[in-house]
Amino acid sequence: MATKREHLLSVVKDLRRYLEWQGVEGDPGVIPASDEEREEARKRWKERREQKTRAMEADLKGEPDEDGAESPPQTPEQQEPEEPSESADEESDGPMAKSGDDAPWKRFKSKRDQKPKSQASSGSASDSADTGESEAASASDPDEMSNADKLEYLRNYMGNCQRCPLHEGRTNLVFGEGNPEARLLFVGEAPGYHEDQQGRPFVGKAGTLLDQMIRAMGLEREDTYICNVLKSRPPDNRDPRPDEVRECFPFLKKQLQIIEPEVIVTLGRPASQTLLDSSKPLGALRGNWHTWGNSDVMPTYHPAYLLRNENQKKKTWSDLQQVMERLGLSR
Ligand code: URA
Repeated sequence: MATKREHLLSVVKDLRRYLEWQGVEGDPGVIPASDEEREEARKRWKERREQKTRAMEADLKGEPDEDGAESPPQTPEQQEPEEPSESADEESDGPMAKSGDDAPWKRFKSKRDQKPKSQASSGSASDSADTGESEAASASDPDEMSNADKLEYLRNYMGNCQRCPLHEGRTNLVFGEGNPEARLLFVGEAPGYHEDQQGRPFVGKAGTLLDQMIRAMGLEREDTYICNVLKSRPPDNRDPRPDEVRECFPFLKKQLQIIEPEVIVTLGRPASQTLLDSSKPLGALRGNWHTWGNSDVMPTYHPAYLLRNENQKKKTWSDLQQVMERLGLSR
């Protein structure tokens, strides 16, 4: 049993390693969340993880589901919509307008083990190597910080960020949320009014549509991670400015390096152009695979744009189908 002193020493060692990993020196910032909140979040994450592991083991052994259901998982196309579709023309919208739930994570087995960490692909994540991440994230290291811990640390490091003038008009900083081990991650451009009010990404009307899109893919929002290029709301929801992106993008990069999802879906032009460092129009980027670090990137339309342009839902659904295929979610 470790003594209190040994425990404290190991905590300090972890923090120091994390600072090195970040390549940042100085004040780690303020801690906005209370101990209780953080404990609660940790508990929820742990329960979810254990539940997933049990389901995966049962699935691998070919055992029936915990609830006794033996039927094979349905594709989103086979699922009955739980509630009336918003769209009058489901065929043209595809199953994005439907919601369904058959414990989809049972089909959502990790392919991480099949994908060596060292597998290099193009993209700007290569600079994660010079932050010393490999040492901190060594799988054989029993003291390894979990992704949840790293994200929490990063959030605390941002603190009450005042790196750009957007903090002046902000109610809450919107860091991002979701599964720290997510295989699928969505990046939007910046918080809107509701996100700013609640401190959570994609909780307004566009968020409701994003939730539907995720469910149509056979997942739950909590299976994924959702964040934005900017963490503070621009006035009148205008596009992010280059100086704002310059200050905020390093934090998105860190989030992506920590989670290292298999697939990143960029929502809309600003997020797609920023992540891919491209000035091409979204129409030329979407529907095609790109890479960022070890992650594959699929740009697609922003849900807020889809709310105004329903006829583009079909193209978006075809982009998401490619994502499902890559993640082994479709048959
Ligand atoms: N639009 C975005 O790009 N992000 C949000 O979080 C909400 C709306």
